[in-house]
Amino acid sequence: MKRFLRNLHAKQTLKYAFDAAGLYAAKRLSNGKEARRYPKIHDVDINEERTRYVFTLLNGMDPKEIAKKEFVFRQVFGRNVELSGDLKRYVLTVYSAEMPAVLRYDFADIQPVIERHKLGIIAGKDRHGRYVSFDLLTQPHILIAGETGSGKSTQLRSILTTLIKQNRPDRLQLYLADCKKSEFHVFRKVEHVQCVLTSAEDIRRMLRSIKRELDERSNLTEQFEISHIDELPDDRKRPYIVVCIDEFLLLRKDAEIMDVLAELVAIGRTLGVFAILSMQRPNAKTLDTTIRANLTVSMGFKLRDITEARIVNTPGAEKLDVSGRFIMAADKTYELQAPYLEMNEAKALLNPYCVMKSPTKDVTPPAAEPEILTEKDVFIDGPY
Ligand SMILES: Nc1ncnc2c1ncn2[C@@H]1O[C@H](COP(=O)(O)OP(=O)(O)OP(=O)(O)O)[C@@H](O)[C@H]1O
Ligand SMILES: [Mg+2]
Repeated sequence: MKRFLRNLHAKQTLKYAFDAAGLYAAKRLSNGKEARRYPKIHDVDINEERTRYVFTLLNGMDPKEIAKKEFVFRQVFGRNVELSGDLKRYVLTVYSAEMPAVLRYDFADIQPVIERHKLGIIAGKDRHGRYVSFDLLTQPHILIAGETGSGKSTQLRSILTTLIKQNRPDRLQLYLADCKKSEFHVFRKVEHVQCVLTSAEDIRRMLRSIKRELDERSNLTEQFEISHIDELPDDRKRPYIVVCIDEFLLLRKDAEIMDVLAELVAIGRTLGVFAILSMQRPNAKTLDTTIRANLTVSMGFKLRDITEARIVNTPGAEKLDVSGRFIMAADKTYELQAPYLEMNEAKALLNPYCVMKSPTKDVTPPAAEPEILTEKDVFIDGPY
C-alpha cells in the first residue's frame, strides 16, 4: 500500500512537471473545458538512491521541446536529475544524494582504487560516493575541456601527481607543456618529468623527439614481432611516456605540432605513449577530427553551450555550475566531482620525488638538427 502511494505521488509529481513545462496536448471538449494528454509514464522505479521514470512522448511532440524544457525538471525535482533519451522514449532519474561540492584529494583513499591499474587515472567521485578510475593503458589519451576557472588545470595537477606517486621514474616519463606558463612549475624538479615547456618552439622540438621515439618503438615492435611495447624483453624495456599539454589549442596553428599529436594519439597506445590535452574553447574546426576521435576519454567541465558540449562528447557539461564538476565520456557517461588538489598540497606531495636537475643551460638541439638524442639529453630542464 505504502509503495502504491509512493508510486502514485511520484507519477503526480512528474505530471506536474509536464504541466509546468507545457509538455501536453490540449483538446477543447464540447462542454468548453480543456482536456490535456501528457507523455505516457510507463514505469516508476523507486529505491533508496534514486527514483527512475520511463516515459514516452505523444506522437507529434517535438523532442527538442524536452531538451529545451529540461530546466523545468530541475526546478521541480531539484538539481540532481538526469534525463536521457531521444525521439520518443526518455528516462528521468532523480537522485536522492547530492554530489559533494568539494572532494579533497587524498592519496591514501585513492591508492587502493588505482592499485589494479598500471597508469591509474583517478577521475573523480560519483554521486554515490564511489571513485571512478581507469587505466590509461586501456583507455588511452584524455581530452579535458572547460571554461576558464572550471577546473581543468586542477584536474591535470591531480592526475599527474597520482601518476607520479604510483609509478617509478624508470617506468614513467612525463613531458609537460603549458602554454599559459602558470601551471606546471610545481613539477619541474620531479624525477619523472623530462621537461616543462612553455613556448611553441620548444614544444615543437619536444614533439619531434617524441615522434622519433614513436618511430623507434614501432621498429622495435616489428623487430620483436610483438603487438605491445610491454612485451619487449627486459633489457629492451621502454618506459611509458605521457605528454601533457595544458591549453593545447593555443598551438593549433602550428601544423607540425598538430601532425605529431595526431600521430601520437593514433598509434601511441600499443607503443606506451599517451597524451593528455586540455582546452578552453572546443570548436569543431580547431579540434581536428582525427585527434578528437582518438582521445578515448573526454572530461567536459563547465562548457559554454550545448554545441561545445557535443564537440567534446559530454552533453550536459553546459549545465554544470560547480567548480571541479564534470561529465566524463569513457566506456560510458559519468557525472563526477574531481578531487581538489591545491598547488601547495601538490608541492608537499611531490617533494619526495624531487631531484637536483642539471643547471639551467639550454641543451635543446637547433631546430633542423636531424641527429637522434635521447630525451634526457635533449630536455634537461631549463628556462624555456
Ligand atoms: N576539483 C575542484 N574542486 C573544487 N574547486 C575547484 C576544483 N577545481 C578547481 N577548483 C576551483 O576553481 C579554480 C580554477 O581552477 P583551474 O585553475 O583548475 O581552472 P581552469 O579550468 O584551468 O581555468 P583556466 O582556463 O583559466 O586555466 C581553482 O582555483 C579552485 O578555486
Ligand atoms: Mg588552467
